[in-house]
Amino acid sequence: METQAADIPGNAKPALTLDEKQLLAEATLKDYAIQAQPHDYYRAMRKGDPVHFDEKLGSWLVSRHEDILAVQADPITFSVNMGYHTQQARGMREEFQEILERDGGGYFPDAIMSDPPYHTRIRKLMENAFTAHRVKELEPRIRDAVVELLEQVADKGSADAVKDIAVPLTIRVIVEQLGLDHGMEAKITRWSAAVVAQISSMQNRETMVENAAQICELQNYLISKMRQRESQPSEDMISDIVHAQIKMPDGSVETLNFEEAVSLVRALLIAGNDTTATAIGNLFLLLATRPDVVRLLQESVDDDRRLTRFVEELLRVEPPVRALSRMTSCETVLGGTTIPAHAHMLLVYGSGNDQEEVFPDPRKFDMDRPNLGRHVSFGGGVHRCVGLALARMEVKVMAREIARRMDNIKLAIAVEDIRYLPTVATRTIEHLPITFTRRVG
Ligand code: HEM
Repeated sequence: METQAADIPGNAKPALTLDEKQLLAEATLKDYAIQAQPHDYYRAMRKGDPVHFDEKLGSWLVSRHEDILAVQADPITFSVNMGYHTQQARGMREEFQEILERDGGGYFPDAIMSDPPYHTRIRKLMENAFTAHRVKELEPRIRDAVVELLEQVADKGSADAVKDIAVPLTIRVIVEQLGLDHGMEAKITRWSAAVVAQISSMQNRETMVENAAQICELQNYLISKMRQRESQPSEDMISDIVHAQIKMPDGSVETLNFEEAVSLVRALLIAGNDTTATAIGNLFLLLATRPDVVRLLQESVDDDRRLTRFVEELLRVEPPVRALSRMTSCETVLGGTTIPAHAHMLLVYGSGNDQEEVFPDPRKFDMDRPNLGRHVSFGGGVHRCVGLALARMEVKVMAREIARRMDNIKLAIAVEDIRYLPTVATRTIEHLPITFTRRVG
């Protein structure tokens, strides 16, 4: 498919080198090598073909910061509803839906993955679960969980930072947050991976069927919890969702129906799980490989404002979410490129964060950037991450407690041997073996 950006007067693009041309012609966001080392690919797109059609993926990749913001500002032309649901179990949607209807209590489309005006109502009701009070209340429990996990490994001198620390922490937080049963950790990990796989663009039929079975089990469990909370509300986010209400300007009261509520509880369980664990895995990777980042963390550890900036720059430099879906509801022009109606697109957040015109010297970890908050790691516009306060807090508590307890963090494998989960949606390290010493004094 031809893009037409260069044909537009005043929209001339810098010439690509031969290597860059070849990269754009041959690579795809699905390539493992691109997932591991994305920055040259991102730069080539931004420079030569900012809204690039990835033929192997069948998706338009939006690579520039300003174009990502433009998409976020127009949720009707760039539909999450169409984009997300096309991506889900891509090519096998009907069968996926049948399995859930038969064995999983029903097929509950993700109510939050929708467009205004429907999304506006759902979002307001979902925010009931994210009051400042609810998030603040979790902080001491998160701190206890972080300290416990770090203390379990502190004297051993080695651990898998993802499997022993990041994943157990985020699962523990979800269990606390939603009021689920302790001891479900292994199941929650499996369920979460199965839901994420639906938007990975990397499933075959066999894995789709296995994942669908996991999602059925997840839904049946959540439905039983929700039924309990209907009659016996408690201090947790499932109760907040089940009993969510908003008052409309005309005095009427809006609530969620059962299908919507199930889909939102499922979204809460999944959306914050992999993403936050990924952020913590990335934190360990930087601490193990970049002495400048170690120094900045040590300097910030007792200064809450500095530590907040540290976390923000971490999220910019290593965004957990790689690319999320949209679909054009009509033909449109974005960044000088004409995109047809009903075209699948991916907003490449990692590329937006890496744009040198917006964040000079983008690979530098610079907590003093004046525009730190302009990163797009949490998306933007009406779909901006609803759990960002919780996510920031989890990462911050983790960073502070690591700095107080661990020194000399090193990778126990070569950087080239780091493996990532096979998905276009996130850039998630699967295992991160590290060594370290306990901090003294
Ligand atoms: C570091 C951790 C996190 C990152 C990087 C992250 C990233 C994102 C991004 C990029 C979006 C925008 C989606 C889009 O543009 O289509 C988003 C939306 C969302 N996030 Fe997060 N997230 C994180 C943690 C969480 C947590 C902890 C929760 C909840 C427990 C959560 C719940 C959601 C939900 C429900 C949405 C959809 C919001 C909407 O469409 O209105 N996220 N997140």
